[in-house]
Amino acid sequence: MEYLVSMEKPLVLLGCAYLSWKIVRHIWGFLNVEKEPVTVLVTGAAGQIGYALVPMIARGAMLGPDQPVIIHMLDIEPAAEALKGVKMELIDAAFPLLKGVVATTDVIEACKGVDIAVMVGGFPRKEGMERKEVMSKNVSIYKAQASALEKHAAPDCKVLVVANPANTNALILKEFAPSFPEKNITCLTRLDHNRALGQISERLNINAGDVKNVIIWGNHSSTQYPDVNHATVDTGNGLKPVRELVGDDCWLNAKFITTVQQRGADIIKARKLSSALSAASAACDHVHDWVLGTPKGTWVSMGVYSDGSYGVPPGIIYSFPVTCEKGEWSIVQGLKIDEFSRAKMDATAKELVEEKSLAYSCLK
Ligand code: NAD
Ligand code: LMR
Repeated sequence: MEYLVSMEKPLVLLGCAYLSWKIVRHIWGFLNVEKEPVTVLVTGAAGQIGYALVPMIARGAMLGPDQPVIIHMLDIEPAAEALKGVKMELIDAAFPLLKGVVATTDVIEACKGVDIAVMVGGFPRKEGMERKEVMSKNVSIYKAQASALEKHAAPDCKVLVVANPANTNALILKEFAPSFPEKNITCLTRLDHNRALGQISERLNINAGDVKNVIIWGNHSSTQYPDVNHATVDTGNGLKPVRELVGDDCWLNAKFITTVQQRGADIIKARKLSSALSAASAACDHVHDWVLGTPKGTWVSMGVYSDGSYGVPPGIIYSFPVTCEKGEWSIVQGLKIDEFSRAKMDATAKELVEEKSLAYSCLK
């Protein structure tokens, strides 16, 4: 009884605090107070991914339907006229969330005060090339832009590198922007993650939204390892393992993996251009989940600086399963790794270690 009386006061206080919070939120909503705009940089904005990406950002696909944005677009001098055209189109689309557009070829102006930087600028591979073959052209861009971001972006700016070789470009950006928090520099493997969801959903003839927790381990290259060992499907009658539902380990351990690994090359073959709409959409998904959080019980794949988890060598940007909360990602721990997975995870790590030294030799 005495215990209950002593608990009464704190409980009443807690209740009052909760009610006051509800009232403030209600008034805030009623007054329709707009959020402060978030400034997003897109480099290579006159290119094909840029052209698909900026309207998605302006429509709220990246940061949510109530988040105003200012978009900074950077490209190089030869693309300056095309960039102007993209700006005109953004204005003509009259997006209610779009509070400003800067289109520039000046990297300092582009980086000034940005909260999120999506680094797409660079050269895509052509048919028959591996992604690392664009290394020498692209890593020097990332070295140069690292210091501009470090000096002029907002202190907690979140960076997503899309341009290939994405993991190694991100690593170079991190190494040449040493004061940037390493947790803020990531690369895009969400496209591969989404491709894996797409392949499973096609195979089972279900909605991609019902498949979750696939993993892309390693490099955004043909050595990446798409892993379904922990993936499940929401059947409407509980979660079921993907392996059980597919019931064909031969397909999952061979054709499924190579299809995801080679999807970029297959798209280049078909379109004579590399993927753009799916890449832009995946970039939105990546930033969206990073900033706004992953749904409970769900993880996504992100290329992040390795801390040695799962025996992956530290010092490379490697794709791991991550959950995100309050703007921070964390690597999912404790997943069981079988021998088949171990070999594939090590092979893609080895390629990243080699790419790192190749990148440094290109920068000499
Ligand atoms: P694109 O050639 O259509 O556009 C690239 C743009 O970058 C061009 O407008 C170019 O002028 C610009 N650019 C070049 N150097 C620049 C610099 N120093 N600063 C700013 N801009 C610069 O190519 P794209 O199809 O949009 O692809 C862009 C990159 O993204 C390529 O490297 C491609 O391989 C890569 N990509 C990655 C993924 C992924 O999942 N990580 C997916 C698709 C494409
Ligand atoms: C992709 O995966 O579609 C991109 O990385 C483009 C490419 O070169 O494959």
